[in-house]
Amino acid sequence: MADKIKLFVNEVEVEVEAGKNLIDAIGAVGIEIPHLCYHPALGADGNCRMCLVGIKDGRPPLVPACKTRAMEGMKVLLDAEHIKKIQHDVMEFELINHPIDCPVCDQAGECKLQDYYMSYDQQGSRMTVPQVTKGKKLDFGSGVIHDQERCVVCGRCVRFCRQITKTGELGAINRSDDTRINIFPGRPLNNRYALNVVDLCPVGAMTSSDFRFKQRVWFLKKAPDICHGCAKGCNITIDHNRQKYEDDIIYRFRPLFNEQVNGYFMCDEGRLSYKQENNGRLTEARTSNNPRSINEILAASTKEIERAEKIVIALSPNCSLEQMVTVKALSDKLGATLTGYSEGYIKQGDGDDYLIQDDKSANRAGLHLLKIDNSLNTFENAMQEADLLLNFNNELTLSFEKRELSRLLNDTKVIAVTSHDTPLTAMADMAIPVASYSEYAGSVVNSDNILQSFGKAITKNIDLDDISIIAAKLGSPLQTPAERFAALQQIISALNEFEPDKIPAEGLNLNNSEAANVTA
Ligand code: SF4
Ligand code: SF4
Ligand code: FES
Repeated sequence: MADKIKLFVNEVEVEVEAGKNLIDAIGAVGIEIPHLCYHPALGADGNCRMCLVGIKDGRPPLVPACKTRAMEGMKVLLDAEHIKKIQHDVMEFELINHPIDCPVCDQAGECKLQDYYMSYDQQGSRMTVPQVTKGKKLDFGSGVIHDQERCVVCGRCVRFCRQITKTGELGAINRSDDTRINIFPGRPLNNRYALNVVDLCPVGAMTSSDFRFKQRVWFLKKAPDICHGCAKGCNITIDHNRQKYEDDIIYRFRPLFNEQVNGYFMCDEGRLSYKQENNGRLTEARTSNNPRSINEILAASTKEIERAEKIVIALSPNCSLEQMVTVKALSDKLGATLTGYSEGYIKQGDGDDYLIQDDKSANRAGLHLLKIDNSLNTFENAMQEADLLLNFNNELTLSFEKRELSRLLNDTKVIAVTSHDTPLTAMADMAIPVASYSEYAGSVVNSDNILQSFGKAITKNIDLDDISIIAAKLGSPLQTPAERFAALQQIISALNEFEPDKIPAEGLNLNNSEAANVTA
């Protein structure tokens, strides 16, 4: 528990966390100090002066809140007349050469300049001389488009490339009102986290070529989730919208702060992986590539399962813990061989020492926790005797060449329970469509053994069941969410303290509680 101190804000006593600067300490109790250049991940630069606050009886009496530590008994003035005058003046400076093109700016609706103008300024322009003009629509690379005229030169983007990615592609050139952010000649943004500068930019000076002009942000609904792009499990906000007569469509992923997982950022590949939630989906049940109703295929699948003598059940390392435990119970009941073999999800050497992992699946640690076999040997040996493969979203064509997979499948019947229309779906005798991760609730365990839960973010026009429900319909003894959670509690002792749906948002670190089960 962090130490607390008491101080006064506009003469009202508040209790805040010790050791933080005034912006963060006072911000945590819901009192905003306006700021542009400060960001908690990048530290205080002190260049914008928007955060100046008064300190009653202080020496000096006026301080930048980003560079001033909250102290016991401090008397902070935010609404004194001289502070309001400073905020007006800073805003006037920021807006002197600003194009005020909010109607065509992607940042409108989530722009600090707009917000602060409405909260602290609201004065008309006094300028009679022509504005300084600068570069528009500059392609900085990696999908980042820069507008120099909208820039308030807070330096966040420059500091991100210096301090976080350590690639240093951006710099501020020239002086005074001609200062502008630019790349160096012939050296565009070239790092795997570049699109974070779009989130960091407090105004509309950095935009994403992928998102530009696709949606006005006030139409977007927001839902927290976990990126399934790799084993890091970065926390994300899914921005989505259902327009009239259309489906619920995801327009972007943005990083969501989680101190023990991804901090404030995410990688570009994960960010753009939202497209896989929208596209390439299997939406109809099929047998031998002919459409059928889901109930027909479920009935036919049940008959195949009853008829089969040797069943192999394959699970994707992207399945949630709830799905894994339900399928495992089905496998135990059927006396099947259960495998999580999925070598093809691992891109050896692709990870870095920051967020990106070699393993492009979200829950391989879950396979280990549930003691589900991962080995190639088990899978190949079982397939030699199998007359039925029941595949839960494991994209085997990532792990095997198509010809090798055809040889392995040989005369085995294949039932693919799948969220996407993949090459394996085309090879299957029957295909059952299921929800993808943005469309169901569940839990995954990341590469640091942190168990994280996520809710259902998207409801499609065709609201498909998730793998747990299909496995239950195919006969798994775990029929309800409560039964699945109870089964997980028996395996993961850390869950015993919690009700379903009440797992802390920051996740549960299993390294101590499950020491015997988690992998190094
Ligand atoms: S582009 Fe945005 S983040 Fe970068 S200096 Fe300008 S306002 Fe700040
Ligand atoms: S590091 Fe992994 S989990 Fe994080 S955003 Fe990238 S792909 Fe997603
Ligand atoms: S936030 Fe303090 S000077 Fe910019």
